[in-house]
Amino acid sequence: MENKWLSEAFKGEVPSDFQGKVGWQSPSNIALVKYWGKRGKQIPQNPSISFTLSECRSETFISFEKADRFGFSFFFEGKENSAFGTKIEKFLLDNQAFFKFINQLNLKVESRNTFPHSSGIASSASSMSAFVMGLVEIESLLVGLSTGSRALVDSVPEPVEGPINLQKASYFSRLASGSAARSVFPMMALWGQTEAYQGSSDEYAVSLENDIHPVFKTYHDSILIVSGETKSVSSRAGHALMEGNPYAPARYAQANDNIKTLLAALKAGDLDTFINITESEALQLHALMMCSNPSYILMKPKTLNLINEIREFRKETNIPLCFTLDAGPNVHLLYPESEAEKVEYFIKNVLVKYCDQGRWIADQVGEGPKKLQ
Ligand code: PMV
Repeated sequence: MENKWLSEAFKGEVPSDFQGKVGWQSPSNIALVKYWGKRGKQIPQNPSISFTLSECRSETFISFEKADRFGFSFFFEGKENSAFGTKIEKFLLDNQAFFKFINQLNLKVESRNTFPHSSGIASSASSMSAFVMGLVEIESLLVGLSTGSRALVDSVPEPVEGPINLQKASYFSRLASGSAARSVFPMMALWGQTEAYQGSSDEYAVSLENDIHPVFKTYHDSILIVSGETKSVSSRAGHALMEGNPYAPARYAQANDNIKTLLAALKAGDLDTFINITESEALQLHALMMCSNPSYILMKPKTLNLINEIREFRKETNIPLCFTLDAGPNVHLLYPESEAEKVEYFIKNVLVKYCDQGRWIADQVGEGPKKLQ
């Protein structure tokens, strides 16, 4: 795959009047079977499956103009932000063999998130995929100009003709931030090679949109904010700790089995199996943290309160709601659209007391990235 992108890369001279602005919004995603542990160049140790979200997203604009050398600045919510900018700049410099044209451009990146600060929701999947969508569009504008397929009107390039190459966007989103590979597809995505799904790859995610039962296409994810604080151990450190984890081989084998079982359940609309796998995966992720060396715990007491309330409510009412967890204390409450009214009543009357300042975010399965400009 690397050779394909290298050979297709735009290698020409950037026209002296090349300038403009592209903008993309891209969503966060929540994994059901978790990616936890990697090797080599951001290659996952096991395949993962996620819901693409809708409300939690990043909006990123890239202004570009011809320059003698690579120029870069990054603004987050209107303010120059060096920490995040450095991450994107490093990604660009590490991958300049694929994006040679950046050495002839001045780039100004402006980004914002639709979800609140300090909500504990990781923004790297949404922000990195939004940035990569814009980068791939800039390249496609250059390719279009060089092949004469598009005219330069008043120095502002026309909107892209035809869709962005999502496989390429997923491949480079993965290099920017592993789980971002899954955010470029609508509804559900699978990242990682598995014999259970033809066309799956460790290098990019694939869409599951056409292989899921309609019930999952409108699934809800209410994110119950237990704490908005930054995690004490980053995902990057967590992945690294899997290397010495004595349970790692068993984990990777089980994740592969869970992928097979979940794929079948997603197709059939089998909610019991969906719930069983999803909750087990969430707890297993945190169990792996607890038996890393050094060990650590990201759940809080209120995370456990919420889990117990959710399981009890399911038992009492037979409503097929379940939880999952990301690498943090917040609880993602998953349920079908048909149960939304009852579950929201339950959130407002019971669960909200465990949330930090009563905060929760009503999200649901979404359509994937959209072009803004
Ligand atoms: O993409 P990263 O490196 O931030 O890792 C994400 C890991 C989890 O969010 C815990 C699981 C997943 O598959 O998204």
